[in-house]
Amino acid sequence: MSAPKVFVVGGTGAQGIPVIRGLVKDRTFSVKVLTRDTTSKRAQQLLALGNVELLEGTFASEADLRTGFSGCDYAFVNIDGFNSGEKTEIFWAIRAYELAFEAGIKFFVYGNLDFVYKKSGYDSKFRSGHYDGKGRIGEWILDQNRTNQNRMRAALFTTGPYIEMTIAARTVMTPKVENGVVTWRVPLGDGAVCHVALDDCEHYVRWLFDHQDRANGMDLEVAIGHIPYVELAAAFENVTGHPARYIDESLDEYWKTGPMAPAADAPCGYNSNLADPAAMNIRTNFTGFWNMWKYSGGNGGVIKRDYALLDEIHPNRIRTAEEWFRREEKRGIEVGLGSLWERVNNPKPTLKIVEDGAKGRL
Ligand SMILES: NC(=O)c1ccc[n+]([C@@H]2O[C@H](COP(=O)([O-])OP(=O)(O)OC[C@H]3O[C@@H](n4cnc5c(N)ncnc54)[C@H](OP(=O)(O)O)[C@@H]3O)[C@@H](O)[C@H]2O)c1
Repeated sequence: MSAPKVFVVGGTGAQGIPVIRGLVKDRTFSVKVLTRDTTSKRAQQLLALGNVELLEGTFASEADLRTGFSGCDYAFVNIDGFNSGEKTEIFWAIRAYELAFEAGIKFFVYGNLDFVYKKSGYDSKFRSGHYDGKGRIGEWILDQNRTNQNRMRAALFTTGPYIEMTIAARTVMTPKVENGVVTWRVPLGDGAVCHVALDDCEHYVRWLFDHQDRANGMDLEVAIGHIPYVELAAAFENVTGHPARYIDESLDEYWKTGPMAPAADAPCGYNSNLADPAAMNIRTNFTGFWNMWKYSGGNGGVIKRDYALLDEIHPNRIRTAEEWFRREEKRGIEVGLGSLWERVNNPKPTLKIVEDGAKGRL
């Protein structure tokens, strides 16, 4: 009996790699990974896992999506909105769902983010294109699923900012070491970020594919916790013994001197075009993003997580920033990345988009 095959979009990405690891590790599933470059280091690393085949192409092509879904049983689709921009992402996410249905896919998992604009009661200060672009399609997919589930079932995998980005290069929360103090200067106020550990994605997505009866129609919203940055900094200090702090920055100052300031006026979506009135720039998109975490109001506010459910389906999940730092300190040293202290002094990318210099075709 051959292993059921999952067509994966976004497989070479920060999120896709642990997702694929979870699917193929015991050979229960095989995967077909869509990538624009089958020769990239990340594509080749995936191939080395076994039970992995690569398909060269783009999510912005019906022909490539059809070839991808063909011969597969299931799908995991994470469309990169930071390539396409919100408007184009919405179109291709819809087409990916429809073409999966057309091709006879039996279970479709959509890589989702919170529909923060709607969840906030359509408050414009929360508008963030890379969240809303996914979140409104997530709702649309669950709605389609009500009538389509007899042929293709569907679930959402709703994540949030990867905690790996708090120590990585060129992210919206890259820290600086200032006079020996690791310093996160971000416009978060007394808010908290629903950070997600990438390693936990391995377990969660595998769980969805292993429990399709229960997962059908589910929006699996995951996070380590609602993490205030005072807690993040204290956790770093506890684990490494090096001083760390959080400084609540004004949005003005953040966009003048923060880690993404040089790119503030660039389109959010390196293949989107600011001549299109539907496009957002990075400043506008991530102002909404920071407002979401600053004003969300903790669990029970705008962005909610059911931690009891997460404990049930992933008993060994990472529950605090400190636990993540502790694991990452050990893992980083073991695999030669260095200690956390060395890594914040010389941050490296965790996102493929950063490695690629925000370039590449749609
Ligand atoms: N950063 C975060 O904290 C975070 C958290 C949750 C969700 N997200 C969402 O996840 C998406 C990005 O994925 P990621 O976080 O894994 O980032 P990433 O590490 O930068 O990876 C981007 C992925 O998208 C693929 N891709 C880009 N353009 C493509 C195209 N035209 N056709 C096919 N594949 C394409 C890339 O594949 P190739 O380069 O191999 O073609 C790669 O696998 C974004 O929509 C983002 O909003 C991000």
